[in-house]
This record gives sequence, structure tokens and C-alpha cells, in this order.
Amino acid sequence: MENLKQQVGIEAARYVTDGMRVGLGTGSTAAFFVEELARRVREEKLNITAVTTSTVTTAQAESLGIKISDLSELEGELDLTVDGADEFDSALNGIKGGGGALLMEKIVASLSKDYIWIVDESKEVAQLGKFPLPVEVVQFGAENLFRKFEASGYLPTWRMTMSDDNDNGRFITDQGHFIIDLHLQKIENAEALALKLDQTVGVVEHGLFINMAKHVIVAGKDGIKTITK
Ligand code: A5P
Repeated sequence: MENLKQQVGIEAARYVTDGMRVGLGTGSTAAFFVEELARRVREEKLNITAVTTSTVTTAQAESLGIKISDLSELEGELDLTVDGADEFDSALNGIKGGGGALLMEKIVASLSKDYIWIVDESKEVAQLGKFPLPVEVVQFGAENLFRKFEASGYLPTWRMTMSDDNDNGRFITDQGHFIIDLHLQKIENAEALALKLDQTVGVVEHGLFINMAKHVIVAGKDGIKTITK
């Protein structure tokens, strides 16, 4: 599996050319992209402007010598963002946020001309929803939202912290919010649900990425395929 992730990470780094403004995704697959990009910066003297989608990615990129620019100071669009995904379907819609970085990931993606997902073949699904849908919510009134999701039959759970240095508390995102995961199993109409969540007060962002990815690079046992929208 690690090898498949590395293959797509390396493949995606080929899309980066000199002078590009690049968004760096988050997660175990995107980490291979960042690693390969750093190698190209170092060895090929590739010149890029990079922006991050999480503090974890910032730490990785900087440790490998990639300088991270402040997104707010960049005018205009990014050329390309490469990120992982938790699930995607044949329309290249997907679920992201398994690592809790969905808000920054969606902001960066929305500012990118080109947006690529890199995944292994286990992420390809006929229907979205088996992977719990992350919803990032403000802390104020979060319990009320949780109850609202329960009443809607969304089977919510709180995302808990993954580190042991925190006394088993709730996961707090890089932007200071909670995450509620919705265990929907099947999402019949992803666009309608996305719209509904967009219109729910207290929801900052959700992990449904609709009509955003332009290409998905998939690694499987038979090699790499690139699906283009
Ligand atoms: C981070 O919040 C996520 O959106 C990741 O991009 C996604 O979970 C994919 O991660 P992996 O590549 O580790 O599976």
C-alpha cells in the first residue's frame, strides 16, 4: 500500500513545472508528493511557490526545504493543488477530511486552476458515503448541531483526538473547530447534501468535494491510471 501511495505521489509531482504556485495536500499519500517535490526542488533546482493545507504538511515541507508562502499574500490563482482523498466516484466527486484538514484543503483547492487527487484503488467507490463524512463545526453550539444531525438520522460521532498527550478530548482542527463525522453509509444525492450542510449555521465546511477534482491518479496492482473529468 505504501508503495502504491508513493507511486502516485511521484507521478503527481511530474505535473509541477518551473515557476508554478502549488498547493500541498495533507495525508499519507500527499506526503509522498511533498517528498518527491522537495527532491525536485533540491536536485533539479525547481522553483515553486508552495502553500499548505495543514500544519502537518507545513512541518513536513519545511523540514524538506520547501518554503511555505502565506496564502493570503498571493494574489490570483494557484496553478495546481495535489491532495489525497478518502473516497471518490466515477464523476470525480469525493469525500475528504479523514485527517481533519478539510477546511484548509477546500480553501486551497478552490483557489487552484488545476486540482489533482492521488489515491490507491481502494478509494474508488460506486457510491459515496461508506467513509464517514467529516463536518467541521464551530465550537459554540456544537452540541446542538450534533443533536440536529442525530435527529436527521445522520448517525454523527465526535472526532476524537488522535494524540495521547491530550486527555482523550475532542479533535480540534488547525482552524480551531470540532469535527463531527456522519456515518451515512450511502449518500444518495451528494450535491443536495452538500448544499444542505453549506446552509447549516455553525457548519464551517464539510468533506464533500463536488466538481472540484480535475484528475484522479489511481495506483492499483495493475499500475497507475489517470482519470480526467
Ligand atoms: C486530510 O484531511 C484528508 O483529506 C486526506 O487528504 C485524506 O484523508 C486522504 O488521506 P490518505 O492519503 O492518508 O489516505
